[in-house]
Amino acid sequence: MKAVILVGGQGTRLRPLTLCVPKPMVPLANKPFVSYVLEHLQQNGIDEVIFSMGYLPDGIKSYFGDGSSLGIKLIYAVEDHPLGTAGAVKNVEKYIQDGDFLVLNGDILTDLDLRALMEFHREKNASGTIALTPVDDPTAYGLVRTGAEGEVLGFLEKPSWDQIDTNLINAGTYVLQAEVLDMIPAGVEYSFERGVFPRLVGKDLYGFGSNAYWMDIGTPEKYLQAHYDILEKNVSTAVSLCLDEDFVCVEEEARLEAGAKLVPPVMIGGGSVIKAGARVGRMAVIGPGCVVGSGSVVEESVIQADSTLEENVTVRRSIVARGARIGPGAVVRAGAVVGEEATIEGDNVLANNIRVYPGTVIKAGTIKF
Ligand code: GTP
Repeated sequence: MKAVILVGGQGTRLRPLTLCVPKPMVPLANKPFVSYVLEHLQQNGIDEVIFSMGYLPDGIKSYFGDGSSLGIKLIYAVEDHPLGTAGAVKNVEKYIQDGDFLVLNGDILTDLDLRALMEFHREKNASGTIALTPVDDPTAYGLVRTGAEGEVLGFLEKPSWDQIDTNLINAGTYVLQAEVLDMIPAGVEYSFERGVFPRLVGKDLYGFGSNAYWMDIGTPEKYLQAHYDILEKNVSTAVSLCLDEDFVCVEEEARLEAGAKLVPPVMIGGGSVIKAGARVGRMAVIGPGCVVGSGSVVEESVIQADSTLEENVTVRRSIVARGARIGPGAVVRAGAVVGEEATIEGDNVLANNIRVYPGTVIKAGTIKF
């Protein structure tokens, strides 16, 4: 069985994290996000994956190569202009032979049982099967209405509360028969959600609901939540092994000075140094090669690789991207996102979801929320 992973989007909602790095390569618990997708596919018996790429494709290819280290054959296709979700799959038609194949949005963290999804699809002899997931607030999503046998009856885009008769949404994972590709025009932007699926209603299109873990990492809030869920083992990933029973994962050659404190759940990347009197956790991931200065506190936050927090820095519920530097006494809190290699000098307070673009320098005492 083959799978196509859609990774061509610009990830605008996750900016500035996606300005230098495409969303699939943004680190999640210190590994590129899409490596979780590949591990999940490999565990479910998929042996060939086609990456459908567009925006910043080079990093993905150079990191994963031919896939032999993962036991999956990897094929790369790059669009010269965005083709939308369905147009992107049409573009890789030559790699898909007859039969069924999987399509996955490349920004979903899930432990969905893909074998059960594929089994359901085959039992129904479906033209397409859409994985469905329940959400608390369906008004923000496109709902999928299904009948007693799981047949898709229709779609309801961003409904008002009085229209809601299901909380199941399209989970961004599909099994399709190769013939469905004949419905997609070549070389133009075309979407599954608005183009292909509405046309397949009544033509053996099914929904497969499950309560598996599901999170799209498309915004900074969800990116943080995915980290909390990995740290709390709400989703099954390889990180769970490192976290062990104490929910503390310290990777190779990380150094904790005497008097440094880790509060679980917490993950410290390889080669990082946590100085005396610093406190990291609960719910914190420090990337490889970071320094957390003495007296600094990191809680409910992600610090990506090679960043430096000097003395008495506070980072709460925020994200600091790769190679950033936060000066003495600075506070980064309440949904702030500091871009790659930005410098926040001391005596600044960043909050209110502020987003600092890569390479920006904020001089001492400039921002006080
Ligand atoms: P936003 O700009 O923040 O909405 O993010 P996005 O660009 O990732 O768009 P969206 O979340 O709607 O996309 C869902 C999935 O489809 C992501 O994995 C995207 O990478 C992928 N995707 C969206 N549009 C295209 C496209 O034109 N081509 C390809 N190959 N993939 C796409």
